[in-house]
This record gives sequence, structure tokens and C-alpha cells, in this order.
Amino acid sequence: MRHRILKLSSHARSVVMTTVLVSCSVVAIGVACNQSVGLSPDDPAVIARGKDIFRFDTFGDETFWTDTLRMHEVIRAAVDPTTALSVGLKVDTDSLPPAVVAGVQNGSISLTSPATTVALLKLNAVVGLKGTVTSVNGQDVLTRVGITCALCHSTVDNSFAPGIGKRLDGWPNHDLNPGAIIALSSALTPAQKAVYNSWGKGKYDARFNFDGLNGPSVIPPAYGLKGVNSVTYTGDGPDVAYWNRYVAVTQMHGHGSWVEARATPPENVQNPPDMVLAKLAALQAYQLSIQSPSAPVGTFDAAAAARGKTVFDGAGNCASCHGGDHFTDAPGKLHSSTEVVSEPEPTGPSFASRSATKMYRTTPLRGLWQHAPYFHNGVATTLDAVVDVYNTKKALNLTAQQKADLVQYLKSL
Ligand code: HEC
Ligand code: HEC
Repeated sequence: MRHRILKLSSHARSVVMTTVLVSCSVVAIGVACNQSVGLSPDDPAVIARGKDIFRFDTFGDETFWTDTLRMHEVIRAAVDPTTALSVGLKVDTDSLPPAVVAGVQNGSISLTSPATTVALLKLNAVVGLKGTVTSVNGQDVLTRVGITCALCHSTVDNSFAPGIGKRLDGWPNHDLNPGAIIALSSALTPAQKAVYNSWGKGKYDARFNFDGLNGPSVIPPAYGLKGVNSVTYTGDGPDVAYWNRYVAVTQMHGHGSWVEARATPPENVQNPPDMVLAKLAALQAYQLSIQSPSAPVGTFDAAAAARGKTVFDGAGNCASCHGGDHFTDAPGKLHSSTEVVSEPEPTGPSFASRSATKMYRTTPLRGLWQHAPYFHNGVATTLDAVVDVYNTKKALNLTAQQKADLVQYLKSL
């Protein structure tokens, strides 16, 4: 079994590489394509370009969010800033001129008018949403809208007000309710809307539009991934670029190409012209440069955490899977549904069964204090719950003291 998985993942890697090379040789010289070949991932200029792509690039997905879902109409008619904040959208204060900040502070700029949302989009201040605003008869009208990676994988530090502050890239936005946002579209059937509305905050089902099944996963962090050569909860790909292409083409509905021969049925999505491929290397370099946020001082007990490490390595048997510098045995090994404590699913089919590998990757433990809930389906809402479920399902017989110490250790990672 192990052998088969390794073979599959090296196959996946060669598919990705071949596609990069083939497409680059087909595309004429001079197209941005050559930017993605031979790039140094540590070059600050490459990382800066990747940051820009992460924050602002839609890969041309306006053709879906505008032309198909008609989200621009919903936003300009009904989404005032208060509503936008209530579905978890965030506002970046660095994009706001002082006059706008002052206007929000003194109440002269209304947070209950959709026109203010359009004004914020014009300033490029809504995290993860990219709008095109055109002047029609002297009035600003939102004519196009698309989404970027930052929608799900950035939040703000709330330094101005809840939901309004400085960007924190890589932090999953667990206030965001992607399903509720998509369900605002007038282009969906009631049955589709019911599924989208069932997901809840911080969750998204990246398989629903392929298999029609409903089982959303928690939006994971996009930080602390340098050296982790396996991505997604199910270890589907060998690098971040694998997921980036999947999500950009099949979920954001940007323009590009996606092929996955291991899926049942095999997936082949072609949405030309390719606006994804040439950006993948820089985009990946940026994500790998984002470090996990350290646990704030005072949020854990250092002495207890030190004792907890001995539980993690010893009686808890955690390190047998969460081993090495990144606390994972991937990519060498993946785990079946029967080995993970998060299955069976609370509702719906096994998440792994819907993936390319049909297995789970041992999640690399990083910034755990920051991104509750835990496991792909969020069944553990706290780290105490994580430890309890392992203690019960793996029959660890840990004492109350050992469990408490282990929790402090997890909080420190
Ligand atoms: C609509 C929300 C959404 C958008 C937009 C989105 N992602 Fe994700 N991302 C997810 C979810 C959900 C997963 C978990 C998928 C899985 O494991 O099966 C994920 C997984 C990831 C991972 C893997 C993390 C890990 O631990 O392996 C990275 C990295 C990532 N996303 C970065 C990005 C980038 C870069 C973009 C833009 C190209 C992007 N995402 C767009 C929701 C989103
Ligand atoms: C058999 C291998 C294995 C062992 C042993 C194991 N884990 Fe895990 N762990 C996994 C896998 C696989 C996942 C991903 C499961 C999922 O997302 O549903 C995971 C997920 C987690 C998560 C969730 C991380 C996140 O960001 O969602 C935490 C926390 C965790 N494990 C802690 C522990 C602790 C503490 C122990 C010891 C008591 C332990 N694990 C023992 C394989 C293991």
C-alpha cells in the first residue's frame, strides 16, 4: 500500500512538471511563462510577486463570479459593509486613505450603504475580492468582481475595528462563510443553495462541484509549509503549487488547465487561456516564505508545555505520526480513514474517499493556537477536545495531568 502511494505521488509530480514544461514550450517566448521556470524561490523579488498574486490575482475568474454567478449585482444592490463583515469579509486599512478612515470613524461614511462597499472595492480594500468600478453618468458602478487566494487564506488583525485592520496573509479566515456568500447568487437552484448554506463559517467543500457530495472541510492555514512536501488534508499533491492550480482552476474558476488522472472519474478541466500556470512558482515561493505565527506570550504555560512534550513523544504516541521538524510523516506515509480519530464523519461520506489518494496526510502541526477548530472536518473545537478524542479512541489512558500538559505543549507549537 505504502509503495503504491509513493508511486502515485511521484507520478503526480511528473504530471505537474511535464505540464509546466510542455505548456511553456508551446506558449510563445515573451509570455510570462518563462518567469516560472528557473525562478529562485528565495529571491525577494519573486516572493514579492507571489504576494501580489496571492492578494490580488483573480486568474480571470470574473468570468465565473460576474458572468455566471452575477455577484456584482448582488453586491451593489444589497451588500453594505455591515453585511459584508457579518459574512466574514475583511477590510484592509492599509488600502484606505486617511479621509476614508476619518469618515468611518466620525460616521460620515455609512456602513449600511452598498455604495460604501463599492467604494471600498474601488480602493482594493476588501480582502480577497477584486472589483472593477466604472463611472456611469458620474456614479461609481461595480461592473466586474472576482476572488483571490486571500479571500479564504488571509484575515486582518482587527486593529481598527472587528474585521477591519492590517492583513495577516496565510491565516485562514474562519469568520468567512464562503457557502453563504456563494448562495447569495441568483444563478443557483434552491437545492444548490441549500448545500452552500449548510457549510457554515470557516468551511468550504472543494469537492462538491465534482462529486455533488456534501462534506465541507475547515479552511487550513497557508503558512508554515516550507519543508512540508505534501499538501491538502489528504496529501493529494507534492507541493503547494498542486493545490494552487486545483483551486485556481476548479474552485475559483480562473482560467487554466487541471488534470488529475487518479480521481474517479478522472478530472480534466480546460478553461483557456491559461492565466495560472506562469504564476505558480512565484505564488508558491510567497506561501513558503510565510512562517507560522508563534504563540503569543502568556497563552501557554512553558513548564507544563515542556512536560507535555514528553507525553507527545512518549505515552501519547503522537510523534509516531507527527514526527520530524514539521510534525508529520508525510510524504513518506499517508493514513487510512480507520487510523484517524476524526472519522467517521459527523455527517456525510468519508472525506478521504472523495480525494485523489483516499488517505489522510498527518497534518503538520503549526500555529495550532491560531486556527481552531481542528481536523479536516473541525470535529474538535479545542485542543483539549483533540487530546480527549485521541485519549479515548487510541485508548491511551493518559492521566488528567498528562492530558493538561499535552494541551499546553500543543498550544506552544
Ligand atoms: C474558497 C476558499 C479557498 C480559496 C479561494 C483558496 N483556498 Fe486554499 N484551501 C481551501 C480549503 C478548503 C483547503 C483544504 C483542501 C483540502 O485539504 O482538501 C485549502 C488548502 C490550501 C493549502 C494546503 C494547506 C495544507 O496544509 O496542505 C494551501 C497552501 C492553500 N490552500 C493556498 C491557497 C492559495 C494560494 C489559493 C489561491 C490560488 C487558495 N488556497 C485559494 C480553501 C480555499
Ligand atoms: C496514526 C497516526 C497519528 C497519530 C498516532 C496521531 N496523529 Fe494527529 N493527526 C494524524 C492525521 C492523519 C491527522 C489529520 C486528520 C484530519 O485532519 O482529520 C492528524 C491531525 C491532528 C491534529 C489536527 C491539526 C489541525 O491543524 O487540524 C492535531 C492537533 C493532532 N493530530 C494532534 C495529535 C496528538 C496530540 C497526538 C497524540 C495524542 C496525535 N495527533 C497522534 C495522524 C496521527
